[in-house]
Amino acid sequence: MSIQINKEHKIFKLDTSKSSYILGVTADGYVGHMYYGDKIQLAGDEMTEQDAANIAVLLGSRQRNCIPSQIDREKVNFQDTFSWEYGMPGYGDFRESCLEADFGGGDEALEFLYTEYEIIQGKPELSGLPSTFADDCQTLVLHMSEPDLKLELELYYSVFEEEDAITRWAKIKNNSQKHCYIDKIFSLCLDFREGGFDLITLHGAWGRERKVYRREIGEGRQSIASIRGVSSHQENPFMAILDPDATEDTGRVYGINFVYSGNFLGQVEKNQFGHVRTVMGIHPYHFSWKLQPGETFTAPEAIMVYSTDGIGGMTRNCHDLYRNHLIRGKYRDIKRPVLINNWEATYFDFDTDKLWSIAEEAASLGIEMLVMDDGWFGKRDDDNTSLGDWFANEEKLPGGVKRLADGVRERGLKFGIWVEPEMVSPDSELYREHPDWILQYRDREVSRSRNQYVLDIGRKEVRDEIYSRIYRVIKEAEIDYVKWDMNRSLTNVASHAAGQDEQGMVYHKYVLGVYEMQNQLVTDFPELLLENCSSGGGRFDPGMLYYSPQIWCSDDTDAMERLEIQRGTAMVYPLSSIGAHVSDCPNHATHRTTPFDTRGQVALCGTFGYELDVTKLVPEEKEKIKEQVQMYHRYNDIIRAGDYFRIASLAEKKYYDCYIVVSKDKSDALLSFVRAENRINRWSERIRLKGLDAGAGYTLSDRDGTYTGSMLMNIGIEIHDAEGQYEGKLISLRRCGQ
Ligand code: DGJ
Repeated sequence: MSIQINKEHKIFKLDTSKSSYILGVTADGYVGHMYYGDKIQLAGDEMTEQDAANIAVLLGSRQRNCIPSQIDREKVNFQDTFSWEYGMPGYGDFRESCLEADFGGGDEALEFLYTEYEIIQGKPELSGLPSTFADDCQTLVLHMSEPDLKLELELYYSVFEEEDAITRWAKIKNNSQKHCYIDKIFSLCLDFREGGFDLITLHGAWGRERKVYRREIGEGRQSIASIRGVSSHQENPFMAILDPDATEDTGRVYGINFVYSGNFLGQVEKNQFGHVRTVMGIHPYHFSWKLQPGETFTAPEAIMVYSTDGIGGMTRNCHDLYRNHLIRGKYRDIKRPVLINNWEATYFDFDTDKLWSIAEEAASLGIEMLVMDDGWFGKRDDDNTSLGDWFANEEKLPGGVKRLADGVRERGLKFGIWVEPEMVSPDSELYREHPDWILQYRDREVSRSRNQYVLDIGRKEVRDEIYSRIYRVIKEAEIDYVKWDMNRSLTNVASHAAGQDEQGMVYHKYVLGVYEMQNQLVTDFPELLLENCSSGGGRFDPGMLYYSPQIWCSDDTDAMERLEIQRGTAMVYPLSSIGAHVSDCPNHATHRTTPFDTRGQVALCGTFGYELDVTKLVPEEKEKIKEQVQMYHRYNDIIRAGDYFRIASLAEKKYYDCYIVVSKDKSDALLSFVRAENRINRWSERIRLKGLDAGAGYTLSDRDGTYTGSMLMNIGIEIHDAEGQYEGKLISLRRCGQ
């Protein structure tokens, strides 16, 4: 049983296979956090009265009295020092609070008291929001109420035993007779009664997404956030809190991630006693949700994974959780078609004949799908026009998308298209018809970015019109794949359709609108492969993974740059979700030339595809594509479903990048080594492998003989080739007797 409860002492113990999370209720009805970490073994299988009594003592720990009169200030002191499950403002907890409710009377204090609990078998859905799913997990619901304000709060905890994960979210209900405004509602609060931790977060920019940063958690508050309306290139909604001596393979690591694709705030705060409070939720900036009497608001789901096997263990828990319980659809568990995308091949300069010629050549090389990127609709020959006019540009595509798609299929390929449904160009039929459909403060200037405006996707009539335009194209041309792009941050976030006191709902309604549209799309077209994208990887988050099994990782397709971008992305997100393509050289953005083989090897770590004009390649390169496609088919099962272990990276000043992916049963593995920098007068590299079956024998594709897993993981192997700068080497391993 993953959830054990002692009713007498009101203790709740949530167990995964390697972790325990314990919370309890004080005699006054406060819900306190007691423990999160290594699994707590009790004397028997079930928690006894004595166990519960022993654990309950933890709730009593508090600041020691220093002077006798202190008793008079006890409530404030208690609030100030207690470990809360969900911090509240106004009565003495001065750390970051999780909830703010405004009834217009100027009273900010909230005191929610425990009323009852409930156990749900399985994982409830979060209405309108992406979330993890499972039949075989248990969910604890704690009910709390604010008696003065007549608000009800529910805290949810779903326990995923295998993945050492607990997911959390909160719901608030207005039971009063008056409307109120929820100005803040976080999804997760985690109070540690210790503070000696490091913090890992992922930071970046366009073309430089998700670089890994590690630092000590210092005094005060350190946060990651986005107020761009998307989860952003700049800061990913992920934090790992870890022991300072935790390594890639050892030590305690708590991973926290947010299943949401809009504004977020993740924060750690080391207080006066050296304790750390962690919060994660929708960013309170410009958030004010009007809650009518009887209405409920659900905050999105936050994920916690625990590992004692270091950062790598946390990564593998996240990968498993997302592959087993978040990503959906037909393509979750099967090889995705090897695609060729025409963006870096042609940019806007293409027509039907050009795409057919690419398709023809691509088919002869084993590529399985052609994706037509930006520029096929309205009058779009550059990025200044036509977003919103989702009708074929007949000059480029005579006979429309259907004729093009049929021709691609006749040449043996599947067919996909690019769309950017959330945007409108000022120069478009759509904008001329509906100038009030964009996000805009009334009668004030709207800022442009990439010469486009943001549609007010939170409005149903806007969503419906855009969706029906795109639906028509997909249906008519029988499209197999859609790349859903989103190319600017949200600004001027106000809706023409909302009242003055509802403008604080626009950011979140926008995100809900995007979710509704994507849900509709995958429901209407269950066979469709959806790929999300936001100027590369500006919306790479678990929320998007619920709708699309893959996300375009970065517009930087340079193989050397990609090593670090993909490594940071794979810290949290499965390799099967990382959109990665082989592109042309010199690379269009960095002007660097890397070997074709290395480009293939780097793209193999993700979804794998091409982003170049195959009609212009020399015969040797075409032969290499044939080999790479075979390589993809040979190794994709391991990459898609296996366990990923980081071995070395450029960021750790190793001058090379190395990882291994091992199949779940440890029978097969694939080692990737790329030399990013060459150095004169150096020793050959000895690489210690990871994740293998220590007692089993393995053969390696690049050398003779059999080696035990133990030898490979402890002594390691020497890499003698891949000597040149940017050269790579792939070694496959097979357990003997397989
Ligand atoms: C940004 C994407 O990341 C690119 O791959 C490409 O689709 C362009 N948008 C097209 O405008």
